[in-house]
This record gives sequence, structure tokens and C-alpha cells, in this order.
Amino acid sequence: MLGSVFENAPVNEPERQYYFIDHSSALRAEKERKLGHAMTFHVTTFGCQMNARDSEKMTGILTQMGFCESDSETGADIVLFNTCTIRDNANQKFYGHLGSLNGKSTKNSERIVIVCGCMAQESECVKRLEESYGFVNIIFGTHNIYKLAELIYRYLYDGRNITDVWDKPGDIVEDIPSIRKYPFKSGVNIMFGCNNYCTYCIVPYVRGNERSRNADEILRECYHLASDGVKEVMLLGQNVNSYGNSLENDMNFPKLLKEVEKIDGIERIRFMTSHPKDLSDELIQVMKDSKKICRHIHLPLQSGSTRILTAMNRRYTKEQYTDLALKIRREIPQISITTDIIVGFPGETTRDVDDTIDVIKKVHFDGAFTFVYSPRQGTPAAEMEGRHDPEWIRREFDRVLTAVQDESKSMAGRFTGNIESVLVEEINEKDESYLSGRMSNNLMVHFPGEPSFIGKIINVRLLECRGFYYMGEIV
Ligand code: SAH
Ligand code: SF4
Ligand code: F3S
Repeated sequence: MLGSVFENAPVNEPERQYYFIDHSSALRAEKERKLGHAMTFHVTTFGCQMNARDSEKMTGILTQMGFCESDSETGADIVLFNTCTIRDNANQKFYGHLGSLNGKSTKNSERIVIVCGCMAQESECVKRLEESYGFVNIIFGTHNIYKLAELIYRYLYDGRNITDVWDKPGDIVEDIPSIRKYPFKSGVNIMFGCNNYCTYCIVPYVRGNERSRNADEILRECYHLASDGVKEVMLLGQNVNSYGNSLENDMNFPKLLKEVEKIDGIERIRFMTSHPKDLSDELIQVMKDSKKICRHIHLPLQSGSTRILTAMNRRYTKEQYTDLALKIRREIPQISITTDIIVGFPGETTRDVDDTIDVIKKVHFDGAFTFVYSPRQGTPAAEMEGRHDPEWIRREFDRVLTAVQDESKSMAGRFTGNIESVLVEEINEKDESYLSGRMSNNLMVHFPGEPSFIGKIINVRLLECRGFYYMGEIV
């Protein structure tokens, strides 16, 4: 009888998934009778904002299916891992974690283990999961997360492990349920995938080619979020500056920002990530004129050496990057500029690292993530000569880190004494009488206050800078 559910399922999405959500209750109830309790789930997310947003969608689907979210992985009936494969240490950490889960899983033999996301797009990873981690029940990639309800239905129906990884993205499916981590702020995908093929990077292979969502759909989502109490949206894409390139109309990123700005209720707009090669004067102007776009830009440098930038296929030079960053500082003086830097790219020399440090000193980054280069199978850089020994990498990494820390320390203090508008996010982790919030420039500030301020935008005076955050008081 339940088998006919598949035969009668609608073909179109997302109707098909809502159909499986509706029909899963009988199977869930049967399993719950066996277990003697209501089924719970726990989602663990690795990696970037894209994955965080995907996890919110999967949380929405699981909740609509009638499963209850559990605070902890231990004891949850469905454990889902949304993985990242940007660097090898992320993968190793995940395998370690999964291994330790196996020991605990004997307590709940009915537990459903799901692995999805970027690691699952790599055939090597899927092979390893299938061969060595047989307790993983469902594996799927990045292109079909919207099918979670159907995959779980299928697994509950016949108990057979499922691997469903697509080589290529399908159509963009809109209107997937989602549950936000924070009621007052939300990520909004404006595009998926990446076409840039930086030679070190795995993202284009695991996320597919670049596809922009229609502006109407994005704005509809933003209106809906605003009416649901969201004050801050973060527009998400691997390279937001090329938004619209895959669309047939003349929509581009600055125009999209202007439209989002018009939405009542949305008080702050952020975006991630900007590729320097596509950052236009039009964008700088729109940011400058805007009352809502936050004074923060994440502008990954990767390297300050033109020679290494060419080998990385970044398509800008040391001078172009520096001029662009300084132009942004000139036009929008309060802005905070943060970046990503890779140390140890094949063939990089100490002089190349000197160039990186030179850019750090010229641009005065407010913050930077520094990464050790990690070869990713299938990317051009993984085949390049000139790998470094760990000793060289440690030394050069430390030089870059020191330069970055010196700059960001001296930059952070420049706001002391200011009154800044702050979106209050949570009760301070260390002291319950304090609240923590984020300024427009993305820096955190901690100050005494009542939990009722959470989710509100308030004015805070910055009393003291402690390295990368401020202590303040409500005014
Ligand atoms: N789309 C963004 C970056 C996304 S990945 C952009 O182009 O700006 C986030 C960061 O991870 C990158 O900026 C880069 O610094 C780092 N990264 C990517 N691949 C890496 C690799 N193979 N080894 C080390 N760091 C890497
Ligand atoms: Fe990776 Fe480059 Fe695309 Fe960023 S722009 S996701 S670094 S390929
Ligand atoms: Fe990681 Fe995938 Fe994001 S590889 S950084 S989770 S796009």
C-alpha cells in the first residue's frame, strides 16, 4: 500500500517534496511505536554560510516531517552531517568524528545516519563512506538537498541504505521550508555554484557552475523574511559581484542591493563573498549611498604576489587589489575590510610572501583568515610542482599571521568612544548579565543588558577595545 505512494507522487518540485512530507507521518508513527518515543534529529554543519543556509532548509524539512530537533547528537534518532571539503583537515576531522559516533551508535541501532554536502560530491569520499562507515544510511550531495523528505521516506519504507549524488545541478527549486537559527537574521541565497576555477579550489567541482536566482524570487523571500521579523539579511554567493551574469535580463548585484534596500523591515544588508575581479564602481557607489548596507566587506586577497595570483587564476594583480581596497577605504571611511589569505601555494617563495605582507600593511585589514594551502584532488594546483615542507610553511604562516594581527589590532581600536548601532544577538557566553551584539562593521561588542534586547537594534557606546571585540554600554 505504502509503495503506491511512490507511484502517485507528483513529478514537479517542490510539490513532490511536500507530498512526501505529508505521507511520511504513517512511516514515522510506525517507527516511533517501535522506539517508544517521538523521533528526534540533530544537524551538524561544517563549512561556509552556504552550508549553514542549506542546513536551515533541511531543518525546516525535518521539522515539517514531524521530527523534533534535539540539542545534542547523542541520543538523536536522525543525525545529519552537512560536510565541507574546502581543506583536507576539514575532511579528516569529519572522519574522526564519524568514527567516534560509531562507538556510541550501538546504543541505538535504529538510528539513521545521514551524510550530505560538499564531501559527498567527491566519489573518493562516497567510496570511503560506503566501504568503511557502513552505518551511514543516506548519502547525498549538494544538488539535491531539497529531496531530503523523499530520501528519508524511502529509507523508512524499505530500510535500505541510499546513495543519491548528482554530478550536475538540476533546476533551482524555490519555496523549500526552512527554520532559521536566529529569528532576527537570515542568509538568502542569491546564486549557487562558482565559475571561477581558482586553481586551488574544489568549490566549482562540488557546487557546480554558477547559477543566479531570479531577482523576483530573492525579493519575495526577503519580503517574507521581513514580515516574519527578520531585520538583517546576508545575501549569499561564492562571488556575489557576478550575480546576474547567468540571467537573461540586465540585473546585476548593485541593482539587486538597491531593490533589497527598499524593503521595509529589513534594516541591515550584508553579503558574502566579493571577488575582487568583479567588484564595480557601481557597487561602491550603491554601498556609499545606502542606509542599510553594512560597513563591512570581505574581499579575499589569497596572495599579494602577482605571480602567485596568476598561478591561482585569480585574475587580478597585486596593484589592482591594493588600489581597489584603498579606493573602498577612501570612499567609505568607516568600512571594515576583511580577507582570506593562503600560505604555501605550490612554488610560492619567501619573496612572494613578502608581497602578501606588503599588501596587508598597505590595506590595513581589519581581520583576516589565514589558511595553509591544502591540495585538493582534481584541481590544477594539486598537480603543480613546488610543494613546501612543513617547516617552511610554519615559518611563513607565522610571518603572515603576525602581520595580520598587528594590523587588525591597531585598526580595531579606532572606534573607541563611538556610539554605534548594534544588532543584539545573544546572552554573553561568559557572563549572563551581559549581551553580545554585532556592529555594522561586523565587530562584536559585549555590554550589560536584559535579554529582552535580543533581536533589537540599539545604540551602544564603545568603551574599550580588547583586541578583536569591544566592551560597551547601552546609551
Ligand atoms: N568564493 C570565495 C571563497 C570561498 S572558500 C572567494 O573566492 O573569495 C573560502 C576560503 O578558503 C578561500 O577564500 C580561500 O582562502 C580558502 N581556500 C579555498 N581552497 C583552499 C585550499 N585548497 N587550501 C587552503 N585554503 C583554501
Ligand atoms: Fe573557489 Fe575561487 Fe570560486 Fe571562491 S571564486 S569559490 S575561491 S573557485
Ligand atoms: Fe566548504 Fe562547500 Fe562551503 S566545500 S566552504 S561547505 S561550498
